Amino acid sequence: MKTCLNSLFSLEGRTALITGGTSGIGLMMARSLMLAGARVILVGRNPENCQQKISELNDTIRTSPTAEFISADLSSEEGLDILVTKLISRTEKLSILINNAGMTAHSPLGTYPGSHFDDIMALNVKTPFLLAQALLPQLKANATAGRPSHIINTGSIGGIVHTTPDSFAYGPSKAALHHMTKVLAKRLASDHILVNALAPGLFPSKMSAWITEDPSTLDSVSQQIPVGRIGHPDDIARALIALVSGSYQTGTIVALDGGMAL
Ligand SMILES: NC(=O)c1ccc[n+]([C@@H]2O[C@H](COP(=O)([O-])OP(=O)(O)OC[C@H]3O[C@@H](n4cnc5c(N)ncnc54)[C@H](OP(=O)(O)O)[C@@H]3O)[C@@H](O)[C@H]2O)c1
Repeated sequence: MKTCLNSLFSLEGRTALITGGTSGIGLMMARSLMLAGARVILVGRNPENCQQKISELNDTIRTSPTAEFISADLSSEEGLDILVTKLISRTEKLSILINNAGMTAHSPLGTYPGSHFDDIMALNVKTPFLLAQALLPQLKANATAGRPSHIINTGSIGGIVHTTPDSFAYGPSKAALHHMTKVLAKRLASDHILVNALAPGLFPSKMSAWITEDPSTLDSVSQQIPVGRIGHPDDIARALIALVSGSYQTGTIVALDGGMAL
């Protein structure tokens, strides 16, 4: 039974690119994919930070192949071009693209600037589309009906229900990313590329540190989550590996939120 399950969920021989893989949920995803045997390439803006994160992953997980990184700022099309050029120079085939880098910005209603919308929609919606589009040849190159390639977009429960007050562009950006997931899923199914979104609730990260690192805020927020706790890296691992080892699930928005959206 064990051997059978391992082969069902194994990612050996697969190459994965994770934007925003240096922190929080992206780092949890990197660990998950490495444990399943994939070659993992992380993307973050700061090369020293990227190097430190892959060293920590390689030291703690000790799998082969070891983690790699490409540093690029994905808030601009120039940064995207740098990432695509560097990736193509390293691999002709990409099995898993995870569009995970994202941002938010808060301001009270009445003073919320339009620039927050420009920045958030660019990184959270436009970049995932342009990156997927640019890497289609690499995603198609490795894809068959039995072993398709995968695009995973990190959405948010905030794209399904109202969550964070005063972050007026964030929820709409994630709702747009969820919708784009469905559009691309339908368009790319015949190329054997499956497209799904993971919509996390609350997980520890730099973005959520204002909640998760303050004990009283964490306690009161946890009490509002039906299962009574925030997410754990193993929750990401189970949901992500199930998605990217599969060959029949596409166009879905997988809520991973302990029931927060109910
Ligand atoms: N944490 C949660 O509770 C939660 C819930 C729902 C959804 N999400 C989503 O999960 C994703 C990851 O967020 P997180 O919470 O894990 O946040 P985080 O700890 O702040 O991580 C954000 C990641 O994105 C990268 N990044 C940010 N701006 C970038 C840019 N311009 N170019 C390249 N990389 C960039 C960061 O790398 P560098 O700083 O090294 O460049 C970092 O690796 C986001 O899409 C977020 O919306 C998070």
